Amino acid sequence: MIYSVLFVCLGNICRSPLAEGAFRDEVAKRKLPIITDSAGTAAYHTDNPPDPRAIATAKRNGVNIGSLRARQVKPADFKRFTHIVAMDAENLANLKRIQPQGSTTNLSLMMAWAKGREGCSVEDPYYGDENGFEVTWSDVVTASKGLADHLAHKAD
Ligand code: 4NP
Repeated sequence: MIYSVLFVCLGNICRSPLAEGAFRDEVAKRKLPIITDSAGTAAYHTDNPPDPRAIATAKRNGVNIGSLRARQVKPADFKRFTHIVAMDAENLANLKRIQPQGSTTNLSLMMAWAKGREGCSVEDPYYGDENGFEVTWSDVVTASKGLADHLAHKAD
């Protein structure tokens, strides 16, 4: 089974592109055949690249997310992706609201994949300073390692 994972936040310019970049890196390290993407519950930033602070943070950590472009999550995503991962509780509630009936995608909170942090949100760094983006990066890397390990073992 080939897994496909969609990361979702509000604007798809800060947290979910960082999550996509961090997860892609963990998947590549494990040589796993997993499809990754990200989207926002809102459409305000459609077609925009990630926030420059997000691009710079990923770059400092060796990951290029500069070619990503924002898009809004859509009902077809619930068919296309085996896993949809929400950055915070509000994103998760919005996803549940638009989830088509009969959808069997695995819907989770990002930090559910980080031991001891289950139930926590990845805080929105948009209105903060650069340091907030490093906190976001650290959180999404921790959760990405947990999710990548989980999917690697399922594929065994
Ligand atoms: P994100 O951050 O959901 O992590 O991409 C935000 C980006 C934009 C806005 C809010 C949060 N905004 O209000 O435009």
